[in-house]
Parts: sequence; structure tokens; C-alpha cells
Amino acid sequence: MEIISGILLSSFLIIFVQSENLKSLPSCDFPAIFNFGDSNSDTGCMAAAFFPMASPCGETFFHQPAGRASDGRLIIDFIAKHLGFPHLSAYIDSIGTSYRHGANFAAGSSTIRRQNRTFFDGGTPFVLEIQTAQFHQFKARTAKFFNQANETRQFPRAEEFGKAIYTLDIGQNDIAAAIDRVGMEDSHQVISDIVDHFATQIQNLYKEGGRTFWIHNTGPIGCLAVTMHNTHNPVAGYVDKNGCVNYQNDMAKEFNEKLKNAVVRLRSQLPDASLTHVDMFSAKYELISNAKKEGFVDAGKICCGYHENGEHIWCGNKGIINGTEIFAGSCEDPSSYISWDGVHYTEAANRWIANRILNGSFSDPPIGIAHSCHNP
Ligand SMILES: *[C@@H]1O[C@H](CO)[C@@H](O)[C@H](O)[C@H]1NC(C)=O
Ligand SMILES: *[C@@H]1O[C@H](CO)[C@@H](O)[C@H](O)[C@H]1NC(C)=O
Ligand SMILES: *[C@@H]1O[C@H](CO)[C@@H](O)[C@H](O)[C@H]1NC(C)=O
Ligand SMILES: *[C@@H]1O[C@H](CO)[C@@H](O)[C@H](O)[C@H]1NC(C)=O
Repeated sequence: MEIISGILLSSFLIIFVQSENLKSLPSCDFPAIFNFGDSNSDTGCMAAAFFPMASPCGETFFHQPAGRASDGRLIIDFIAKHLGFPHLSAYIDSIGTSYRHGANFAAGSSTIRRQNRTFFDGGTPFVLEIQTAQFHQFKARTAKFFNQANETRQFPRAEEFGKAIYTLDIGQNDIAAAIDRVGMEDSHQVISDIVDHFATQIQNLYKEGGRTFWIHNTGPIGCLAVTMHNTHNPVAGYVDKNGCVNYQNDMAKEFNEKLKNAVVRLRSQLPDASLTHVDMFSAKYELISNAKKEGFVDAGKICCGYHENGEHIWCGNKGIINGTEIFAGSCEDPSSYISWDGVHYTEAANRWIANRILNGSFSDPPIGIAHSCHNP
């Protein structure tokens, strides 16, 4: 008994000492952020490359469409603000952009692995390996430009690439594709392969000089409002207490578990790198489970778009319902909704989630983002 409580006490002391030490660590003072991901953190790539976002996207904060799939800011915007930066410009956006404090390579519908689908088929040209290739080019070309023109206003300096924070939020569209092919392929093997591709790209960013990585795992895809909203009279066990589809969340959880193991492996392969794994799934799931208590309507309710009786008109689009053309606009009060358009979160939800993750309470190790270069 005494031995056990002695062990407990000493491990308690170690944890206590560690967290005390973490608090006294100096802030990392990141000079730049480089972000990689999908629509959850796309701040204008798809809008610049293909078609601008339609109103009412952007209505809450930007008061016009701002290249984001939300009524306002995304989690990456709150991360940038927290670290003292202006909004991150999309790498591919050439109008009115500044890359002084980094660049955003994230693009809506992006996947980690190449998909056998074209852009017009819901596929993406901006898979993760293309995003890291774009980063490679960005770094090489800014260095060249800097040397020629001595241009310091618009671009990061060469030595800042190693001191920057590299944030990643991608995988949801790979899981969505795997959900579409359930029964047609070995999902466990596919998920392992997705995670292997993810790890390879982190190694590539490390080879480019990246040292601090802030890695979001994937959210509860089975809780997407468009899915919950259209699941009627489910058989026992199909959904959980919140109405989220269990087998879909199980696939996201399997990805997350394998990702967490991959991060542990990367820590030993890249000993001078700081890799923080952020449990985005739990942060989002906590919000969804406590929607009412946190001041939101039911997580299955959708602010913008028409999604009834199997008919879908996506946010900002027009369509014909019962012979009448309707415009799928937004709800009265987006700040009371978790889901903006059935797939993406509102600014209010993004702020709630960002407030939970920024201080490290969902991170492994539990270090806030401003200190995340000190790990281990
Ligand atoms: C794409 O198709 C090829 C050939 O059928 C297959 O080997 C590959 O695994 C597929 N990729 C994905 C992401 O499904
Ligand atoms: C570049 O700018 C710095 C700082 O303003 C200055 O000291 C340096 O002489 C400049 N170099 C060239 C090549 O113009
Ligand atoms: C369309 O018709 C269905 C069935 O009659 C009804 O439930 C639904 O509310 C109607 N939708 C609109 C937008 O009028
Ligand atoms: C982080 O912030 C959230 C939201 O403000 C708070 O509930 C939580 O206790 C904080 N966690 C830590 C470790 O400071």
C-alpha cells in the first residue's frame, strides 16, 4: 500500500514539476505560421483558384464572402490572432496578400492521399503532397527574391522558416472517402496508409527546416449536422446519445489513434522537433455533447442551406423545391448555431473550440500553442 502510494505520489510530483516548468517557459515568439489542411482551415485558396465563396459566407465577421466556408473566422484565424499575427493569406491568392508572417497552403476538399477523382468529381488538386511542394517552392522563391531585392516587407526571412510554427489540420476528406467505400476495401489498411502519407509529409516539412509542428487530429465526422439531420429512425446502435453516426466516428477515432502513434514515432525519428498532437475530435465532441449548456441550439441544426426530406441546396445556392425556386440563405442568429452549412462550423463554434485548444488542454503534451516549441 505504501509502495503504491509512494509511486503515485512521485508520479504526481513529476507531473506537477513538469507543468510548473512549462508555465515558466518563455513564449516561442514564432515569426510565422505555415498552415496545411482542408476547408476547415482554407482562408481563400479554393476561392482564389476556382470560384469565389457565395454570400452569405463571411457575413458575421467580414461582412462579405472571405474565402472561408463559415459565417466568419476559422480556428486558424483564432490561432493567428492568439499568436499576434494578422489573418493568414492563402499561398495561391495574388490579390492584396502579405506573406510576412507565413502562408496558408490549406485548400477546401483536400485529402492526405491522392484520390481517384477529378476536381469536378469532388476531388482536389491540392493534396497534402502538393501543399508541401508549394511550401518548398514558396521557401525557395522567397529566399531568391529576398537576396535580389532585399525585400523584407512581404516575405519571411530565411532564418524564420526554422523558427516558425507549422500547423496541420487534414484527414477528414480521406475519412469521408473511406466511408464512401466501406465494404469495398479494407478500411483498417486504408486508414494506416493515410496516416503513413501524413507522416511522410511531416518528415518533408522537417527536411525543409520546420521544427515546431502543431497537429490537429480529425473531428467527429459522424456528427456532421448534414448527416445527423438526415438520419431518421436509426436502428439501435447506429447513432450515439447525440445522434452522431457511430461507425463513422469509429473510423475517425481509428485514424486519430494511428495518427497519435505516428506522432510518437516521429518524435523519436526527429529528436530536435517539437510535435504537439491536438485532440480536435474531443474538443469538437465536447461542444456537440454540451450544445445547450454552452448556449447553442442542437448540433444537428444547420444555419445556412436547405436540407430537408433528402433534398439538399447548399448554403448560398439556389434550387427548386416543390416547384418553387428558393435561395438557401442563413439563419437569424448564426452565433447560436454550431453548424454553419451542415459540414463546416460557425465562427461562434470555431471560437469556442479555439479557446479550448489554444491553452493546451487538448494537447499531448499539454502545452499551450504559444509555448509549443519547447517540447520535449
Ligand atoms: C486509386 O486507384 C488505384 C488503381 O485502381 C488504386 O491502386 C489506389 O489505391 C486508388 N487510390 C485511392 C486513394 O483510392
Ligand atoms: C538590405 O537592407 C538592409 C537593411 O535595410 C541594409 O542594411 C542592406 O545594406 C541592404 N542590402 C542591399 C544589398 O541592398
Ligand atoms: C415541400 O413539400 C413537402 C411535402 O409536401 C413539405 O414537407 C415541405 O415543407 C415543402 N417544402 C417547402 C420549401 O415548401
Ligand atoms: C483552457 O481554457 C479553457 C477555456 O477557457 C478552460 O476551460 C480550461 O480550464 C483551460 N485549461 C488550462 C489547462 O488552462
